[in-house]
Amino acid sequence: MASVSIRNVRKHFGSTTVLHGIDIEVADGEFLILVGPSGCGKSTLLSMIAGLDTVSEGDISIGDRVVNDVSPKDRDIAMVFQSYALYPSMTVGENIAFAMEMRKVPKPERDAVVARVAKTLQIDQLLDRRPAQLSGGQRQRVAMGRALARDPKVFLFDEPLSNLDAKLRVEMRAEIKSLHQRLKSTVVYVTHDQIEAMTLGDRIAVMKDGRVQQLGTPEDIYDRPANLYVAGFMGSPTMNFLPVTLQIEDGRWVVDLRNTQGHAKIVLGAVQDPSWTGRQVVLGLRPEHLHDVKPEHAASLEVVFDMIEPTGADTFGFTEINGSRVAIRLSPKRVRAAGERLHVAVDVSAVCLFDPETERLIAP
Ligand SMILES: Nc1ncnc2c1ncn2[C@@H]1O[C@H](COP(=O)(O)OP(=O)(O)O)[C@@H](O)[C@H]1O
Ligand SMILES: [Mg+2]
Repeated sequence: MASVSIRNVRKHFGSTTVLHGIDIEVADGEFLILVGPSGCGKSTLLSMIAGLDTVSEGDISIGDRVVNDVSPKDRDIAMVFQSYALYPSMTVGENIAFAMEMRKVPKPERDAVVARVAKTLQIDQLLDRRPAQLSGGQRQRVAMGRALARDPKVFLFDEPLSNLDAKLRVEMRAEIKSLHQRLKSTVVYVTHDQIEAMTLGDRIAVMKDGRVQQLGTPEDIYDRPANLYVAGFMGSPTMNFLPVTLQIEDGRWVVDLRNTQGHAKIVLGAVQDPSWTGRQVVLGLRPEHLHDVKPEHAASLEVVFDMIEPTGADTFGFTEINGSRVAIRLSPKRVRAAGERLHVAVDVSAVCLFDPETERLIAP
């Protein structure tokens, strides 16, 4: 096992720059996620760690060795792609053993590794089948088996679950997580799926346009997003953004929420920087941080839902506050149809404030 250091890494393709100075330190045994929309540079960065793409500027180290000029086969990494190309004419066992055979590992040792990997991935019953006789999930497991057989210093995954149907994706996600907990291997995992990022990552790097927007634990990213982009990328439905004006009362920020039904005074945290007084900011509030309350609740606001979206476990109600569209997570028993009304109150401990000009988090 080993750490991975990415220091001020840039990538140019001709005159286009697709990575603008990436700095990420992946600790030994850490599961690090690179997440971001299509085209933001995730695969390019992963390919550079693997040695399949050259580094234009900066350094990439695996362990304490700079690997910029080390060929892929000497980097001691294993990569699993979205499209896992298995050799169709070989059995599952032969597919897993192939790289070892190339390295002239003796047969008894090969067989032992194949048996161990097959047991880990629960594919011992499939070793004599050919890829055409496997389901999509089983094939993906064999592709992971080939990576595991190499016992590499670092695992690199590039959207390995994207081609699987929703149910299988959830199962494989759980398997990858438990595999990592058992093997404690260093993993860099690329995905565009924010749920995968939140559930798998020890830390997450959120990328956009070739830059890391924020690097932190799933809790950091979800509770204290560094900017409006990260706040909007993580969470579904997305964080609500309301324009509010900051006022001070008794040393705390106070904002007003209003709609066609009335208004509510919301008392926020202690004032750190009074220069914001009277300025308009963006109040960020996730759908689960508005709760239905009794009408007599001091800071409640009555809302009328114009749309209801049941998802089974939760129902999301949509309404307008401060001129912005707002989603509120509710119990399915609470609302059933558009046109229904509820009194809601804000969980003030969960409010984020953003500067509308720089788009950066101001508080907490
Ligand atoms: N070989 C290449 N030549 C030119 N541009 C490329 C090449 N590979 C990738 N790109 C560009 O780099 C950007 C990042 O691509 P990529 O790393 O594949 O993004 P992601 O994996 O996040 O979807 C894209 O704009 C893509 O078009
Ligand atoms: Mg990609």
